[in-house]
Amino acid sequence: MCGIIGFTGKLEAQDILLDGLEKLEYRGYDSAGIAYFKENGKISIRKTAGKVKDLRAICDDNDSLCGIGHTRWATHGGVTNANAHPHKCGNVALIHNGIIENYHELVSSYDLEKDLISETDTEVAAALFNKLYDGEHPLDAIQKAVPLFKGSFAFCIMFKNNPGVIYAVRNVSPMVAATCEDGSFIASDLTAFIQYSKKYFIVPEYTILTMTSEGISLQALDGTRVEPEFLEVNWDITAAQKDGYPTFMLKEINEQPAAITRTITPRIQNGLPDFSEDNIPKSLFENCRDITIVACGTAMYAGMVGKSLIQDMLGIPVTVAIASEFRYEKPVITEESLVIVVSQSGETIDTLEALRLAKTKTEKTLAIVNVKGSSIARESNYVLYTHAGPEIAVASTKAYTVQTAAFYLIACKLGLVQHKLTETEAHEFIQNLQNVSGHISEILKLSDDVERLTKRMLNASNTFFIGRGIDYTLSMEGALKLKEISYIHAEAYAAGELKHGTIALISEGVPVIALATQSHVYSKVISNIREVKARGAYVILLSMDEEITDTSICDIHISLPKVPDNFAIFESVVVLQMIAYYTSVGKGLNPDQPRNLAKSVTVE
Ligand code: G6P
Repeated sequence: MCGIIGFTGKLEAQDILLDGLEKLEYRGYDSAGIAYFKENGKISIRKTAGKVKDLRAICDDNDSLCGIGHTRWATHGGVTNANAHPHKCGNVALIHNGIIENYHELVSSYDLEKDLISETDTEVAAALFNKLYDGEHPLDAIQKAVPLFKGSFAFCIMFKNNPGVIYAVRNVSPMVAATCEDGSFIASDLTAFIQYSKKYFIVPEYTILTMTSEGISLQALDGTRVEPEFLEVNWDITAAQKDGYPTFMLKEINEQPAAITRTITPRIQNGLPDFSEDNIPKSLFENCRDITIVACGTAMYAGMVGKSLIQDMLGIPVTVAIASEFRYEKPVITEESLVIVVSQSGETIDTLEALRLAKTKTEKTLAIVNVKGSSIARESNYVLYTHAGPEIAVASTKAYTVQTAAFYLIACKLGLVQHKLTETEAHEFIQNLQNVSGHISEILKLSDDVERLTKRMLNASNTFFIGRGIDYTLSMEGALKLKEISYIHAEAYAAGELKHGTIALISEGVPVIALATQSHVYSKVISNIREVKARGAYVILLSMDEEITDTSICDIHISLPKVPDNFAIFESVVVLQMIAYYTSVGKGLNPDQPRNLAKSVTVE
């Protein structure tokens, strides 16, 4: 949460900061601000509650080659100009992503109250750096201040009397940096500066970074020099642009066939799953008695599909845990348990901490992650990278389908290794997985029909998503998607459980999106659908039937291409994504930046 960027070099800093903030805006969009060195060595600040476009409107100064910028997702203190970053205190201006948990103690221990004008934890950090700064030695101030902070932080700091220099330091919160002919860059993630440099490095935790127009140096808190470890990205700026689509979300929905193909193809050899290029040994799947999948949000719902699949196919007990709960429970994990963490960003703090906890109990940890070199990818014993490319829209779409596809590969591998699947069965399974991209492309052609049907949803205040088995896990994802971008209350229910309470909420015209793709429970779901239909629900049914015209079952039927039951979820979820998308757009909302949300949740 919160996007940060810093630049110092030969180019106009204000332009780079504003453009970079626009690219980072999905991390938070409550307020935005920049600070920069003027030619006279003074630090100027422009900041405002609102979006980057509001900040752009008040930025008129074009004479700086060094500055820092921030886009905020509010944690401490409301959405006000005063609480917007950067925060300036005396000779220090800084931006921050994270939470300083002990800010109250710091205020009283260092007598900082009189220096504060905002309600933020960040301003306390600025005041502390300022207090410890002697006006000449910024590194000393940083070395003294950093060990005093409890919590997570990524700071970019400018010190008066040091024009052209930006200092940075982090714990947990992500920060990457690069240097090129035009100057030096630092940011929460690559999208902010990828057009200038494809080579970058992850700023190591508790390492002080000093950047000037000439380059970047790193040192540990004790002053020892640290060498950066450079990585190279395999996508370019066009992957992080809308490419003619009106929104990132629509672009990302449409990218799913290619993203799935990119993710599975390198892991299929001779028609069977093969993780040798990922350096994932067979032994990870051998003697694996049980599996715990840990994640947040949509990634967790991908995990639920994984659970349903693995448990049904292989009979191995699988638990799915919400990362923020898992961390504070006493999870039952042994050395023989496989723990799979799932995260698009690889930075979600609860998932990262859950991984750290899991590692104290088992060496069998596997991360399914989209962002190369992210914290979760680095810390997990094994990593299976998804190749979705950058996902910018806050509501996850393509990341979900590639995470799910990764679970299909894992399930197949487990089946083979544990002798629950024959090679012939595995070949057939993988062939079906390879067909998924084509089927999604077919589904994408239904977009006009889906857009039309959402007209009925626009005035709804309550909606329900129902299904059984794997369709139920999908209902949860469909409901989440609709809630987050259309602000319509949506509840997912196991179809058979409805009559134990929730059916009381069904009244005339309430939209119910029903999934009936699983043949072993098909007739049961249809009965459950009839129950809500009989009570006036407006039913949109997704099934693999060619046609359903019986109005005692549904008002609208979406016919999905016929595939084996296990593979229907890929088709259904794309329809659910489109329902959420067109409902949001139909309501005049911006699906890319839903209120109160941010994409990368780096605070607890
Ligand atoms: C946020 C995003 C979701 C995402 C979740 C987990 O809530 O809005 O789209 O599923 O975080 O994020 P991760 O990066 O760990 O997959």
